Amino acid sequence: WVRMVTAQTPTNIAVIKYWGKRDENLILPVNDSISVTLDPAHLCTTTTVAVSPSFDQDRMWLNGKEVSLAGARYQNCLREIRARACDVEDEEKGVKIAKKDWENLHVHIASYNNFPTAAGLASSAAGFACLVFSLAKLMNAKEDNSDLSAIARQGSGSACRSLFGGFVKWIMGEAKDGHDSRAVQLVDEKHWDELVIIIAVVSSRQKETSSTSGMQDSVNTSLLLEHRAKEIVPKRIVRMEEALKTKDFGSFTELTCADSNQFHATCLDTSPPIFYMNDTSHRLISCVEKWNRSEATPQVAYTFDAGPNAVLIARNRKAAAQLMQKLLFYFPPNSDADLDNYVIGDKSI
Ligand code: DP6
Repeated sequence: WVRMVTAQTPTNIAVIKYWGKRDENLILPVNDSISVTLDPAHLCTTTTVAVSPSFDQDRMWLNGKEVSLAGARYQNCLREIRARACDVEDEEKGVKIAKKDWENLHVHIASYNNFPTAAGLASSAAGFACLVFSLAKLMNAKEDNSDLSAIARQGSGSACRSLFGGFVKWIMGEAKDGHDSRAVQLVDEKHWDELVIIIAVVSSRQKETSSTSGMQDSVNTSLLLEHRAKEIVPKRIVRMEEALKTKDFGSFTELTCADSNQFHATCLDTSPPIFYMNDTSHRLISCVEKWNRSEATPQVAYTFDAGPNAVLIARNRKAAAQLMQKLLFYFPPNSDADLDNYVIGDKSI
């Protein structure tokens, strides 16, 4: 027999960034962060997990190619979920697995991203969230999504925020074992559904410095990082939560843009400096800043993760349509100043 489960998990984009760990193995951050979960139609991972007595080892395929599960991150997730496995009884398929059998059973995992892996579009976030969620369902684990987020966190920090829709906060926690470092939903996907998210793919190439090693270098060398984590982010988190509750797009934009810029300033403050944005990213920022300043209230917020691609959050559909017009005018397709792959997501959250 074979028992199979398929799950789909969207990626998330931080509006208050996670950058820096206080524990590398457990993946515990130096500050809280807040993100928005995207519509699964555009940027998501689909994972199928299977268990059968005929499997003789755990194996995984990513976008059709076999990858090793030997790394600590995969092993930590697999171990934590196995420890929570429960009895499974599926009469229809003739499957009966007792809790104690799980330690001797192996899983096969097939995972697909519908967007470029490691191009700064948070593929690891959707990937580990989906892996942990689908394994939990396969093994009939009873934990809720917040409990599962503390496991997904051990695969990739940002993954813990992908277990919820809407706006999500990753609480850094205080415990040494990390059990209180987990995600909670701040507001669901219906709360602020006027927002429209557009991603301008400046480059779909793999980034040169991974987030993992980049943030390690920042923790070791950037003085700005410590100041940011201790003095700046805690205040921004409070203000961002308020802006989300009251749907205050002006504050939301101010905080989102400032936090993206400070994250990239921290990257520049790292030795050796890390450059994630490029000239096109900088031109996009200027374009949005100029537009926002010419209106009575801001129309679009921008944020950039560990890559040059812009995540643009428009206040409503009208602003999104105007933004698309501006993008097409200033960055015409197939020109030198081209965005690599133009726009891949235009759906509201
Ligand atoms: C810039 O979660 O990819 O996207 O925990 O080492 O796997 P690891 O790093 P990762 O870092 C994400 C960094 C970021 C900001 C964010 O998502 O908050």
